[in-house]
Amino acid sequence: MKYTRIIGTGSYLPSNLLTNADLEKMVDTTDEWILTRTGVKRRHIMGESESTTTMAEIAAKRAIEASGIDKNKIQLIIVATSTPKTLFPNTASSLQHLLGITATACPAFDISVACSGFIYALSIADQYIRSGAIECALVVGADSLTKFVDWTDRSTCILFSDGAGAVVLKADNEPGVYSTHLHADGSFGDSLYLSGTLYDNKEPHHIKMLGNKLFKIAVNKLDEVVEETLKANNLDKSQIDWLIPHQANLRIIVATAKKLNLPMEKVILTIEDQGNTSAASVPLALDIGVRDGRVKKNNLILLEVFGAGLGWGSALIKL
Ligand code: ACO
Repeated sequence: MKYTRIIGTGSYLPSNLLTNADLEKMVDTTDEWILTRTGVKRRHIMGESESTTTMAEIAAKRAIEASGIDKNKIQLIIVATSTPKTLFPNTASSLQHLLGITATACPAFDISVACSGFIYALSIADQYIRSGAIECALVVGADSLTKFVDWTDRSTCILFSDGAGAVVLKADNEPGVYSTHLHADGSFGDSLYLSGTLYDNKEPHHIKMLGNKLFKIAVNKLDEVVEETLKANNLDKSQIDWLIPHQANLRIIVATAKKLNLPMEKVILTIEDQGNTSAASVPLALDIGVRDGRVKKNNLILLEVFGAGLGWGSALIKL
């Protein structure tokens, strides 16, 4: 029996910062409103020369370095992004080239599931490894949502940020990835979407969101998926060492932690400094927890995500 193990993590955040004080000068809002309603203090915004691909490249290089493997051992590259610089070539193929991975028996593709993309991508790579098809994969979550923010819309421009996170996965005799749980409900598609279409230029591409409606759905769906994950693994919630949630809103995260009876010290929080980096948010938080020494080998970690689609999901992992 083969399992998937995360053997290296890496991440990248652009250095340009946008603070709540900056936003106070742009729209009718206050630092106090943003902080109490969302938990965000500052966001990272890509520079002129940066893109989803360049952010993914840095995060991937850091993950590969941390894993200690030869990059040419990677047999699959998946990039979860809904904000690729170009639709084709896809980000994953460009990344393969930038990383100098010369083996062509290394499929490279993007998946688009907005904020939930990383766990979807992890789940796909896990199936490849568990089936014995491959031994090693690179999974990246990278997004540049600030390119699609309407900077006059105070209900969305306060939330989003740019960044990338990556993991290197390897086959192992011990789990690793215990289970992944993916969900989608397209009937809620109009509660969070990018306006306009790729077929014409009639409307600008801006993030549109029914925040309040989404908030309630997110809390419910994340409650359900946490329950589902515990049940599938025959676990009691007291056995979870860390919650690494999608960082969309601190109040949503607090609700999930409460459901798990987890004190907030057992939640890796990045939202204050990073806002919502979409598909990058969970691997970014994982990397931060690993590098600052909080998340240790053999800790049981619950990852969860929620976002446009709507899509949501979870993964139970051990490093
Ligand atoms: N500053 C001040 N007031 C504001 C702001 C702002 N930045 N934005 C909205 N308001 C006002 C509204 O206009 C409204 O005023 P009204 O009562 O006079 O009409 C009031 O504040 C309350 O608005 P709500 O939308 O009800 O505020 P809420 O507490 O729900 O917070 C928020 C809004 C932060 C967007 C929250 O709903 C949220 O986080 N939702 C979930 C987002 C999410 O999970 N997204 C999924 C992932 S993202 C992805 O997949 C790309």
